[in-house]
Order: sequence, then structure tokens, then C-alpha cells
Amino acid sequence: MTYGTLHRSARCAVDTAIVYDGWVIPAGTAVSISSHCLHTDASVFSQPHLFQPERWLEGCTREMHLSLRPWSAGSRDCPGQRLAKGAIVKILAEMFGPNMPCMAPFATTVSDVMPKFDYLVPMRKFNSHGLRVKIV
Ligand code: HEM
Repeated sequence: MTYGTLHRSARCAVDTAIVYDGWVIPAGTAVSISSHCLHTDASVFSQPHLFQPERWLEGCTREMHLSLRPWSAGSRDCPGQRLAKGAIVKILAEMFGPNMPCMAPFATTVSDVMPKFDYLVPMRKFNSHGLRVKIV
């Protein structure tokens, strides 16, 4: 369990200069950002590493919505996002449905789920078993 993607997504206006916030970005210049940087920007998300889903219910800001880009954005964003979201909803419904047993974290620390390496998909540290749970 970790970020979907970590790497920087580059975009390039091949033959047009772009003016952004007073800066001129010359034609042919690659500009990039990673969703990890956006999602952990503490000026937008308070305590960004804290699992706090209720942040989307109370005190939710426009900046938070604009900064949530797990699928990238624009014409080259992820074409598989609806399929992926459908799968995520199905998995969560199966895992936490009424007839499923309760799970509690087992021998797992933050360092077991934090991305350590970027192999296009983020990887945790090598000597970790990742997120483990026990059925209670
Ligand atoms: C949780 C699951 C997924 C995440 C987080 C994810 C995320 C992303 C992101 C961030 C990009 C943009 C990369 C960039 O700008 O360089 C991307 C592109 C892409 N994704 Fe996904 N994706 C997911 C699932 C899928 C699935 C299920 C499919 C196909 C069935 C898919 C197909 C693609 C393709 C073909 C592109 C390239 C689009 C292009 O370059 O125009 N993805 N994805």
C-alpha cells in the first residue's frame, strides 16, 4: 500500500512559450511535478502524512481539491482512472463489508508503507513485509 505514482510527470509545449505567474517558460522546456510533492504540501494539507480522511469533510479547501492529482491532469491524464476507481471501491467494499472480519495492523510501522524507491511505481524499503494485518 503506497502512492500510485511517485515520478515526475513532465509536460512540454514544443513550439510555444508559456507565461505563468509572470514567468516566461521558453518553448521546448519540459516542466514537471510529482503527485507526491503536491499531496504532501503542508501549506495545503495540514499534517499531510497523517491518515485523516475526514479532512475532506470539514475544512476542505479549493486548494486541496486542486492539489489532489493522483491521476495527473489534462489531456494526458490516466485513461484507466475510472476502471481503477471501480476496482478500489470493490476491493474496499469486500474488505470492510458487513460480513468481513475485523483487521488490526500487525508488525507494521510507518516506514513499512512509506515509499523508499521510485521504480515508476513507488517501492517500500527492501527488507519490509509491507502492510500486514491480523484478523481479530
Ligand atoms: C490506482 C491505479 C492507477 C494510478 C494511480 C494511475 C496513475 C496514472 C498517472 C499519474 C498517469 C500519468 C502519468 C504521466 O503523466 O506521466 C497515468 C497514465 C496512464 N495510465 Fe494510469 N493509473 C492507474 C491505473 C491505470 C489503469 C487500470 C490503466 C489501464 C487499464 C491505466 C492506464 C494508463 C495509461 C495508458 C496512461 C498513459 C496516458 C498517456 O500518456 O496519455 N492506468 N496513470
